[in-house]
Amino acid sequence: MATTIPSLTPLQDSLWLTLCGRALDNRSSHRILGDATADRIVRESGYDYSKLHISPSGALNIAHRAKKLDEVAQGFLARNPDGIGLDLGAGLDSRALRIGSADWYDIDFPEVIEARRRLLPKEATPHGTGADLTGPGWLEDLPADRPAVIVADGLIAFLSEEEMVTLVNRLVEHFPSGEIAFNGYSRFAVWAQKHYPGARSIAGLTRFPGFEDPRVPESWNPRIRLVREILCTREPEVAQFPPVLRLFTRLCAPGTALSRRGNVVLHYRF
Ligand SMILES: C[S@@+](CC[C@H](N)C(=O)[O-])C[C@H]1O[C@@H](n2cnc3c(N)ncnc32)[C@H](O)[C@@H]1O
Repeated sequence: MATTIPSLTPLQDSLWLTLCGRALDNRSSHRILGDATADRIVRESGYDYSKLHISPSGALNIAHRAKKLDEVAQGFLARNPDGIGLDLGAGLDSRALRIGSADWYDIDFPEVIEARRRLLPKEATPHGTGADLTGPGWLEDLPADRPAVIVADGLIAFLSEEEMVTLVNRLVEHFPSGEIAFNGYSRFAVWAQKHYPGARSIAGLTRFPGFEDPRVPESWNPRIRLVREILCTREPEVAQFPPVLRLFTRLCAPGTALSRRGNVVLHYRF
């Protein structure tokens, strides 16, 4: 029997796009992430993902960037045993399970955190915080004396630049030190989101203007420093791509401007 699909706002519903992308990647013979939990939740909910028009390359890109963010979080927590992890706009992602962390805080709107409790295994949400990330106060319940790795997968598209800068400043002021990583959006990617069939479900919701230069966030707060711009065209997982996509990606890889138009994960420390 299918589980009841939670009733959410269109903005909150965007979580299905990334969840279904990871589920479809898990069903692919060229799987990049292997997120069996996402696959199970989508199957059990009976969610009609055909309406999202997710192409095979779209699913692969969603899974690829999730893997890169997992690696950043895992690396940080391995180097900082006293550290905690935060997933901003966590949706129904089970990153804590994938990376095996119990000191993990998922933050999203209260309705989404409630849906997580209902649909995900308990270990997938060691700590859930229901809040609007653009508002003040939600950080008060989180430890302020431990280093933190903060990831945001598919979130920043929905924030204005001003909201993103305010959010980053609050995080940097709250934690003694840490790292922040999120998937970046070039101006081209922002334009494509409005026109690409696979992003139709979120086209009217995105607000971030996008930027090309990975050093832009260094101007948001003086403590922020770029660790690495991860251009996914140059990452080892490209070897697992289906042949035509692999060839196309390898042709794009030498060009930085071209690679920045695609899947990018930006990694900073503070
Ligand atoms: C595209 S989904 C990505 C979900 C998840 N990170 C994933 O990869 O599956 C964007 C998520 O950001 C959340 N979100 C957007 N704006 C938010 C805000 N102001 N406060 C809290 N959550 C927000 C939405 O509710 C949604 O779950």
